[in-house]
Amino acid sequence: MSINADTSLYCLIGNPISKSLSPLIHNTIFKELDINAKYLALRVEDLEKAVHGIKALGIKGFNVTIPHKINIIKYLDEIDEKAKIVGAVNTVLNIGGKLKGFNTDGDGFIESMNNKGYSIEGNKVVMIGAGGAARSIAVSLAYKGINELLIINRTIENAYDLKSSVQNKFPQLKVKCYDSVQDNDLFKNTDLLINTTSIGMYPHVDNIPISPSLFSKQTIFYDIIYKPEMTRLLLEAKKQGYNIINGIDMLINQAIYSQIIWNSNLFEHRVDSELLVKKIT
Ligand code: ATR
Repeated sequence: MSINADTSLYCLIGNPISKSLSPLIHNTIFKELDINAKYLALRVEDLEKAVHGIKALGIKGFNVTIPHKINIIKYLDEIDEKAKIVGAVNTVLNIGGKLKGFNTDGDGFIESMNNKGYSIEGNKVVMIGAGGAARSIAVSLAYKGINELLIINRTIENAYDLKSSVQNKFPQLKVKCYDSVQDNDLFKNTDLLINTTSIGMYPHVDNIPISPSLFSKQTIFYDIIYKPEMTRLLLEAKKQGYNIINGIDMLINQAIYSQIIWNSNLFEHRVDSELLVKKIT
């Protein structure tokens, strides 16, 4: 669809943004659904001025990335409960000048699991890392009713911080924290192993956060890194016969959730995320 006076504008704000796949993903969705809108990536240093600009220009919705995911909160009029627990916002809806913040990263993760036919409820999950991505995934997993969460993070304080945020809302959820793991029995009956750290990210492609052979064969391996397409963790897990999921699925599904927030009519015309993965990769 060509740009005209009715074209709506959406954007990503962050710094750096030059490598972001979000413009490609969102503009592909607009095209697929025949929505008269465009999505731009905007490098933003002064967040306050950018927010004023977004309101003044009537930009209908935007995504927020590094380094503004936490600081954006003070410029919002309302914040969704899940984003509040996560403590970070990646999606904002502009309702006539009033801004409402959401975090769709965790729900994108869950959706990518559901799309592949995996259930979450009652799962035992081992999560490596306790940063921003880990927080949003852990909160969404808790909402979905997992049974047990083991957090392994080199800075144990960050793991405990995540534990207390999650248990504040879900006191019944079993959460244990480790800075390293000596006892392999801990991994028994793990349903899902998630790497949320940058270990294995290009150019350090030989690094691996944990050995797949410590886990039983039922474990699904999920690495949220999406470049290179397969990390060593996933390559080795695949070789050993485990089911694996790559980070591109989470990336695309969190974008779809942003779109659902901005254009709720997408609920009627569900986007085929598997098809989008194929178009984008
Ligand atoms: P993101 O928003 O992508 O999650 P982040 O908030 O900076 O990024 O979090 C990165 C996570 O990866 C953290 O859990 C970090 O561990 P610390 O809490 O100890 O900082 C973890 N991480 C990053 N590089 C790592 C490395 N080389 N070894 C171990 N953990 C690493």
